[in-house]
Amino acid sequence: MTARVPLTLALPKGRLLEPSLALLWKIGAAGSEPSGTRKLLVPSSDGTLSLLFVKPADVPVYVESGAADVGIAGTDVLRETEADVLEPLALGFGRCRMVVASPAEVLYPTLSGGVTPRVATKYPRLTRSFFAETGLGVQVISVSGSVEVAPLLGLSHWIVDLVDTGRTLRDNGLVERATILDVGAVLVVNRASQKLRLEEHQQLLDRLQVAVQSPLTPGHRPGVSRP
Ligand code: PRP
Repeated sequence: MTARVPLTLALPKGRLLEPSLALLWKIGAAGSEPSGTRKLLVPSSDGTLSLLFVKPADVPVYVESGAADVGIAGTDVLRETEADVLEPLALGFGRCRMVVASPAEVLYPTLSGGVTPRVATKYPRLTRSFFAETGLGVQVISVSGSVEVAPLLGLSHWIVDLVDTGRTLRDNGLVERATILDVGAVLVVNRASQKLRLEEHQQLLDRLQVAVQSPLTPGHRPGVSRP
């Protein structure tokens, strides 16, 4: 009998990684490599998964294409990329909001003198669509991080970014103006893989569902791979 290749699970590096690895540890599928490895593809300790570490915005790309069978992604990148993937389970972490923010002294929702507002963001599609719906003409400027600094340097008047604790906005003198989207981490699944390997997907989903509903296990969590 031929041994089956394990399902490939795309994990987002960054702030969703730690809770994602904690969830895998809870189902007994932690990374098999010591903490601190730079390997980007490692088997899980129970052999049921291949763990792939990628940038958060790339998880939908890997899963939609089938390069990964499953993934963990924020609904922010999923809505931005409009990825055609299944979303069978909300994972209960990574909750935050996508908002419009600006310096307190910069007017919103219109600027004086008929100036077209410039909006810096990592989410150009969602930003365009939000302002199109509200009927405000803006110029969207795409950046890939540290968005909060854009108004301080005159790159933009407003920003669209995620807010969790609110500290980054506060520390950079920005105030919230409008909420665009409630965000959270979800399990994403490639449509074709789900059909072809139904049983394996169902088993993984069942294990994750139980883990998501159970309280955090107290005590020390062994070292896990974290590129
Ligand atoms: C995210 C987000 C905000 C910040 C919000 O950035 O883009 O900048 O966290 O968190 P807070 O409300 O708790 O301060 P991240 O740290 O992922 O880095 P990035 O700016 O490079 O995207």
